[in-house]
Amino acid sequence: MLSQQTIVGVIGSGAMGSGIAQVAATAGHQVFVYDNNLTALEKAKIILTSSLAKLLEKQKISLEQQNKISANITFISALNGLANCNLIIEAIVENLDVKKSVFSELEKIVREDCILASNTSSLSITSIAASCKNAERVMGIHFFNPATIMPLVEIIPGIASNADLITNSKKLVDSWGKVTVIAKDTPGFIVNRVARPFYSEALRIYEEGIADMVTIDWAMKEIGGFKMGPFELMDLIGHDVNYVVTETVWKQFYYDPKFKPALSQKRLLEAGFLGRKTQRGFYNYAPGAIMPEAQKNKELGERIFKRILIMLINEAADTLYLKIASAEDIDLAMTKGVNYPKGLLKWADELGIQNVIKELTDLKDFYEEDRYRISPILKQNFWSQKSFY
Ligand code: NAI
Repeated sequence: MLSQQTIVGVIGSGAMGSGIAQVAATAGHQVFVYDNNLTALEKAKIILTSSLAKLLEKQKISLEQQNKISANITFISALNGLANCNLIIEAIVENLDVKKSVFSELEKIVREDCILASNTSSLSITSIAASCKNAERVMGIHFFNPATIMPLVEIIPGIASNADLITNSKKLVDSWGKVTVIAKDTPGFIVNRVARPFYSEALRIYEEGIADMVTIDWAMKEIGGFKMGPFELMDLIGHDVNYVVTETVWKQFYYDPKFKPALSQKRLLEAGFLGRKTQRGFYNYAPGAIMPEAQKNKELGERIFKRILIMLINEAADTLYLKIASAEDIDLAMTKGVNYPKGLLKWADELGIQNVIKELTDLKDFYEEDRYRISPILKQNFWSQKSFY
């Protein structure tokens, strides 16, 4: 049984690993962080120290807590330093072969009852688990960036995972103050699947010349209530990450046209215009660059917002239809993982199922593309006059 005495191991001390270590150490666990790169380990120590110092300065933790959290974390440069851990979360490079080889090495040194988890955002948990003799103890525990701030954690059983271990791990992560949801082991899990149309439908509207990017961003923020517009968000995430996630999800779904990436984004990647980090993406962030102005036409804005929202709802509905997660978990995932103003299925109920169907039918009739096919559950709900909640 996992408890506060659980010793937590983290593999990979990069952006995610160091955040996850801080979360577990703050919850009182003894944490061992292993990385095969000494420079990365040194960098993680500095980042942890400065992150705790900031929390102290903002009076979010006391001096005593700061010392305790730091003392709870040990940085190690040899894998066998994880031998006594009860739960290990891997957050290394997103490469299936590398992850598989780390998991099979790990299994040779850890305790029989140690749970092995991966923080992967796009790889199959079942496939990672297949590298272990005991695949029952392998699962996905997927945090969002930054792990110290974002409340959502997706828990992903592989097909061989032991149900009790899943329940115990979920309880433990809940006790860290996180909001956990259970997702089936399918590409993108919940968030990275359901969020795809936020980017792809915006890109499609832009490529068709219906509106420019700044107007689309304006519509989603001003009318839709989203914290950021799709283009500014893609620029922030970086096209090297956001485009690659889209492409990976599309390929893993056997090239389903629903998930097809956009050429306009691929060109940015090819040009090295990765977004804010290179001072150029869809927008130009160079000093002195002038930001374009949105065309604040309410009717156009409503049209843009509705089209993107309807496509998001369609994907959330399909995720429910295919039993990837429950309606509650799908809505929680989008509000707690990517800050959507409302759960998408709740939003569908508010709009009225007949209106959602009407918008989707219009898109489908006009474009005659499989991309706009309507999720069967929306039709079922329409025919039986049912709502999601
Ligand atoms: P990162 O590049 O910041 O850190 C990866 C760390 O792993 C590096 O310090 C590297 O030295 C270390 N590493 C690589 N191979 C290793 C090995 N064989 N043994 C030990 N250490 C090794 O990467 P980041 O962004 O922290 O991502 C880590 C994982 O988390 C990936 O699977 C990624 O898909 C996932 N993830 C990333 C998110 C993000 O926004 N960055 C969000 C959620 C999940």
